Amino acid sequence: MILDLLKKRKSVRNFAEKDVPDEVINYILEAGRLSPSGGNGQPWKFGVITDKELILKTAQIAYNQKWIEKASFLIVLCTKNFDKERGGRYIQKSRFPNYVEEIENMDDELYRRIHMEEHQTKIAGTHMMMAALEHGVGSTWISLFKVDELSELLNLKKPLIASEVIAFGYPAYDEEVTPKKSLDEIVFYNKFE
Ligand SMILES: Cc1cc2nc3c(=O)[nH]c(=O)nc-3n(C[C@H](O)[C@H](O)[C@H](O)COP(=O)(O)O)c2cc1C
Repeated sequence: MILDLLKKRKSVRNFAEKDVPDEVINYILEAGRLSPSGGNGQPWKFGVITDKELILKTAQIAYNQKWIEKASFLIVLCTKNFDKERGGRYIQKSRFPNYVEEIENMDDELYRRIHMEEHQTKIAGTHMMMAALEHGVGSTWISLFKVDELSELLNLKKPLIASEVIAFGYPAYDEEVTPKKSLDEIVFYNKFE
């Protein structure tokens, strides 16, 4: 059951020195492939980083998060940085109709970088994390990194950019799951009181 799995999930940052078999990596990738996306655009590429040097460099680019160095592999969720002709601004203007003018006037490059369809890759990444957990592989999401530096390191060509990274590996040891708020604290029905 999906809830049983979700109750076991926690971010794993202490990885064992044990390789994850290719079949399991493919299973994880397949879970990402099946993810929903706006208009079924599937605006992504999934970069599997197994090379130790690249993993070390990624850790540096991620503001020196040393724990990343021990990951068995990384998946870099890359996405297309849509240009305005493709309707990027249309999406955010529809979502924030009170800011139509501000969005319209925002510097092109800045707008595209902030927008960058990154919300799309979050779902694919979540699928992957759950698929990994089914095989006992732990993971942690990484958003804190220099997007341009990582994109360059991986030789990505515009409009493709590195949007999110997930580090994977077998946990070195069992850890308590991270406490979560109760439903009472986070759910409301109909109007918020
Ligand atoms: C969008 C996103 C970005 C995150 N970025 C980082 C990160 O850069 N470095 C890190 O160590 N953890 C990162 N995390 C992991 C969170 O710290 C973690 O999910 C949170 O503390 C809750 O713990 P749990 O995953 O064990 O439930 C990120 C999580 C999310 C969802």
